[in-house]
Amino acid sequence: MDKLIIEGGIPLHGIVTIHGAKNSVLPLMAASLLAPGVHQLSNVPCLRDVVTMQKLLTHLGVESKLEAATLTLNSNSLAANDAPYELVKTMRASVLVLGPMLTRWGKARVSLPGGCAIGARPIDLHLGALKQMGAAIDIKEGYVEATAEKLHGANITFDVVTVTGTENILMAATLAEGTTVLKNAAREPEVLDLADYLIKMGARIEGAGTDTITIHGVESLSAGQHTAIGDRIEAGTFLIAGAITGGSVTVENCPSQFLESLIEKLREAGCKVEATENRVTLNASQKLNGVNITTTPFPGFVTDLQAQFMALMTLANGTSVVSETIFENRFQHALELKRLGADITLEGRTAIIKGVKKLSGAPMMATDLRASASLILAGLAAEGTTTIERAYHIDRGYEKIEEKLLKLGAKIQRKNG
Ligand code: EPZ
Repeated sequence: MDKLIIEGGIPLHGIVTIHGAKNSVLPLMAASLLAPGVHQLSNVPCLRDVVTMQKLLTHLGVESKLEAATLTLNSNSLAANDAPYELVKTMRASVLVLGPMLTRWGKARVSLPGGCAIGARPIDLHLGALKQMGAAIDIKEGYVEATAEKLHGANITFDVVTVTGTENILMAATLAEGTTVLKNAAREPEVLDLADYLIKMGARIEGAGTDTITIHGVESLSAGQHTAIGDRIEAGTFLIAGAITGGSVTVENCPSQFLESLIEKLREAGCKVEATENRVTLNASQKLNGVNITTTPFPGFVTDLQAQFMALMTLANGTSVVSETIFENRFQHALELKRLGADITLEGRTAIIKGVKKLSGAPMMATDLRASASLILAGLAAEGTTTIERAYHIDRGYEKIEEKLLKLGAKIQRKNG
């Protein structure tokens, strides 16, 4: 398995062009199941998760081709309606084919996603909402077996804000009979991006981006073209890279409005941050202040940047408290950061970080996508050499990360085997 080797202690300087948002592209790809024809998605990054979704869609009969960040998907001849365990177990977002398949053909068989490093991550809210829309749902041998003559509109309120739950129901409702009102819906930019594409395909949707979305079902949809939004998590990760190495980094091609909660916290930590519509420049401060964060649904501090921000706080003056309210086990990176000399105490969903003067390079193991980003950031700041095993985790959500970091002056290389 490949590993990353980093010589730390070098301030990063330069401009990074941000790729398309992984968490936007995956639902956009699933939406191709809703309408026959050739769909064209632009600003699509070459990521492991995109390849996994391509494999799943190929299994379902949707051939696709990614060339120069444009993904063409041909959904004229659908072949199956089951999402096999072999694919779903590697990527939970596979559940996003459930809603589209059910509303298009009236039946779907999707493997339950199973466990995940950051938490149980059940899909009970997805299934409960589909039942309210008239689906019969059985769980057999680890698979969800869903059937529905024709889904009908319903008034649904999610107990918990769920991003892919919102996206699944949004897609299912576009072809349902009548109107669906979804309350306590996710407001993430990626949900709004999906709604924008569905509307281009002919869907009738109001309120996307707010906590109440109304969808009026239509007879059919048609394939369209869409450009995915920039990846706010990649952008935030590179801004934190500038902050933790004492450098200055500019990220472009990501709307700064998606990064407001992070920018606020980076400024509170003492960094100088300037933002225009699609560019954000961070100049690190020599003295980092400890800052408390609590992860919440958008527009609060995004859980997918919690691990990266924690790495930054390990070198801040004073104590910081990180509260993770979205997932029950998203502190695996803390155990690895302590190997570099970080002072972190875990108490349930709270981490108390006492800043230290320096981190010292050491071997570490990546456990999940955003944890691996956190370890890279710490390695960039640590004195000496850091190695990160199981680097494939990072490739799920970051395209060519070491190339981008090399361009910023980092000393990083990937070793296979
Ligand atoms: C999406 O996951 C993202 N993935 C995650 O990004 C992100 O961390 C998460 O939203 C939260 O923002 C994609 O968009 C592909 P949730 P999702 O349903 O939809 C509970 C990354 O690193 N819940 O919003 O699976 C759940 O357990 C990934 O790019 C239920 O209880 O997350 C969690 O505690 C990691 N029942 C909370 O809701 C359900 O039916 C939020 O989960 C669904 C969710």
